[in-house]
Amino acid sequence: MSPIVPPRPRTLAAPVVFLLFAFLAGCGPKETTQTDTNAAPATPAGKPAAGSTTGGKTYLIGMSQANKGEPWRQAMNDQIASAAAKHLNLKVVFADAAQNNAKQVADVENFLQQKVDLLMISPNEAAPLTDVVAKAYDAGTPVIVLDRKVNGDKYTLWIGADNKAIGKKAGAYVANWAKINRRAPCNVVELRGLEGSTPAKERGDGFREGIKANPAVKIIASQNADWLREKAVSVSQALFQANANVDVVYAHNDPMAEAAVISAQNANKDLKSLLFVGIDALPTPDGGIRSVQAGRLGITYVYPTGGAEAIDWAVRILEKNEKPPKSLVLKTDEVTKANADALLAKYGGK
Ligand code: FRU
Repeated sequence: MSPIVPPRPRTLAAPVVFLLFAFLAGCGPKETTQTDTNAAPATPAGKPAAGSTTGGKTYLIGMSQANKGEPWRQAMNDQIASAAAKHLNLKVVFADAAQNNAKQVADVENFLQQKVDLLMISPNEAAPLTDVVAKAYDAGTPVIVLDRKVNGDKYTLWIGADNKAIGKKAGAYVANWAKINRRAPCNVVELRGLEGSTPAKERGDGFREGIKANPAVKIIASQNADWLREKAVSVSQALFQANANVDVVYAHNDPMAEAAVISAQNANKDLKSLLFVGIDALPTPDGGIRSVQAGRLGITYVYPTGGAEAIDWAVRILEKNEKPPKSLVLKTDEVTKANADALLAKYGGK
């Protein structure tokens, strides 16, 4: 049973409300709703409590992000902030764990001390964050987990895409690509995400299922680069040095796939004969959809952040006392050169 407690109404302190109002009015600092919990709010005293123009209750949401260094995570925070800005009675406070599990545990503890009405979290790794998420849930705070999972079921709602299915689609694409391009064997090197984060295992497992469609496809090397572009540069460089005949790079996200393109270039590989596969497909200028358009990546998969859905459900839980499903699985899209323009438009790219 999901302990959805009746929402705890709060009155935001006047200075905080002023900042929120200023942000909504478009004249405040851009990051007003993206306050890091470590940062002391610089607020003028004595301003009117303008946030609750609806006269209703106001709610404080703590969003614990695994890190802000990766563009995909910044996109998640941005989506949460802009969806929340449509609700004058929501205040979202963001914390950045900087890929540090201990820091993220402390961030959540801090939110609980602040008595947030709802906790959102995208955990860095599953095991180290499981207990603190369970503690919040057991204490009656609704918890929305985004993208990466925790262990067990002590949370209110998980929102994310099906990483195993995405991995499987990528594997099936590679199986077919090898057939069409007569690569037998077809040698794949894999750049994996952070091992303790659930999408890394799921994307790896799914891919292995997908390539079963063509026994010529072999994973000849597999290395962790922890989701990080910089780390993937050196890891992929070593992989190209150690393996002369690479046909495909399967990277668990686009930044690592882009890193592999650079390493292949540096190793004087014929880029046209290689297939680079990524995941994320952000519609941003340096995101994966544009990489496919430019021909650097052969294929990538849209991995939605779930930010807007998280705010939607937060409102339904807090204001309407609705009981959410245990998980909300978001749709993906396969981005190829043929559909990249259309998908860029669909996802609001410029
Ligand atoms: C960002 C990221 C994304 C990836 C997701 C998996 O931190 O690495 O690129 O899709 O996390 O959790």
